[in-house]
Amino acid sequence: FDAVDVIRTKRDGGRLSDAAIDWVIAAYTRGVVADEQMAALTMAILLNGMDRAEIARWTAAMVASGDRMDVAGLRRDGRVLRTVDKHSTGGVGDKITLPLGPLVAAFGVAVPQLSGRGLGHTGGTLDKLEAIPGWRAELSTDALMAQLRDVGAVVAAAGPGLAPADARLYALRDVTGTVEAIPLIASSIMSKKIAEGTSALVLDVKVGSGAFMKTIDDARELARTMVDLGADAGVRTVALLTDMSTPLGLTAGNALEVAEAVEVLAGGGPADVVELTLALAREMLDAAGVTDADPAAALADGRAMDVWRRMIAAQGGDPDAPLPVAKETETVVAPASGTLARLDALGVGVAAWRLGAGRARKEDPVQAGAGITLHARPGDTVTAGQPLLTLHTDTPEAFGRAREALDGAVEVTPDGAPGTAGRGRPAD
Ligand code: URA
Repeated sequence: FDAVDVIRTKRDGGRLSDAAIDWVIAAYTRGVVADEQMAALTMAILLNGMDRAEIARWTAAMVASGDRMDVAGLRRDGRVLRTVDKHSTGGVGDKITLPLGPLVAAFGVAVPQLSGRGLGHTGGTLDKLEAIPGWRAELSTDALMAQLRDVGAVVAAAGPGLAPADARLYALRDVTGTVEAIPLIASSIMSKKIAEGTSALVLDVKVGSGAFMKTIDDARELARTMVDLGADAGVRTVALLTDMSTPLGLTAGNALEVAEAVEVLAGGGPADVVELTLALAREMLDAAGVTDADPAAALADGRAMDVWRRMIAAQGGDPDAPLPVAKETETVVAPASGTLARLDALGVGVAAWRLGAGRARKEDPVQAGAGITLHARPGDTVTAGQPLLTLHTDTPEAFGRAREALDGAVEVTPDGAPGTAGRGRPAD
């Protein structure tokens, strides 16, 4: 094969043969196909798409580029452990993995979560957990398997051997404007889940301003594509479409989100976080064949919290240690009295990122304490001058750029007046 021929085929709207797909993925992983050639091919895919068979082959080739784990083969007390994973396509304030893994594991199901770090305005689960003093994301495959068997829940960094083609490809897409292609997102996510070896998977496909998918039609197509890929690979896969037009819960930022997740595990926490955690837990338990479970009871009576504490401790973390706190805070107040009509997820996500909660390049550090606390949710009645948001950072020079990101993200409809968009105003 010749890389230029493969690029031309897709550029001109043609289909890639199985052999061409296998070759281009393997050759790219080995460095034989150059980054600029793969960038041209991914742009052609973004513009011209791939059919179901092409996407399935592309995904299989990415799985074949590295190692496969066999979490579904794990045994506890001589019986095969049921495994089910969950994946969110990413959003602002999406800390659901933190309470969800321990909650589902409390019912005897193994929950392997190989997660990533955040890039751009959506946070990464590993960054959040790394806010906990001592907690380690890197586990050997043996340690990961042992923790799955003994604790039931694990959140760890995907090792470099798992779908290495995706690691290269994702970094390339990130800097070439080719992330937002449904076939590429679907194959990227599913190749990692198939390589991990889970027997069931629940997908939380986000839709709205803070998500990759801005419209319900695109979100549905992504969900359908991933469910089909799962089915083709023998992974029982279901998807929920959930709203990401406003942040989840009342926090965005690493330590702030851990604290909120712990509130949920203690039986409290914001209603939307609890609701989504329970909805996903029910789907996961169902997919694992556990039919008589009451996940709400396991949050209320401390069973999920027990698993959380064991999960954190097993990875070197101290579940009782105080969480890091940012050095500086500023408040954004309501610009008028009325109803908080909109608190835009993208604006809040970008602001939290600029405050230091996220990174611009994958080698950048993140600030554990940085982020945003919400004091009101869309639909709440607010009074002019009332705090709406608290901004947290160790680098106060970031406040200005964070406020710019919030420009137009906060909308208060004054009593009896048409809507006003504003960025809130600084506290006096
Ligand atoms: N998450 C992934 O793992 N891959 C994508 O392409 C997008 C989101």
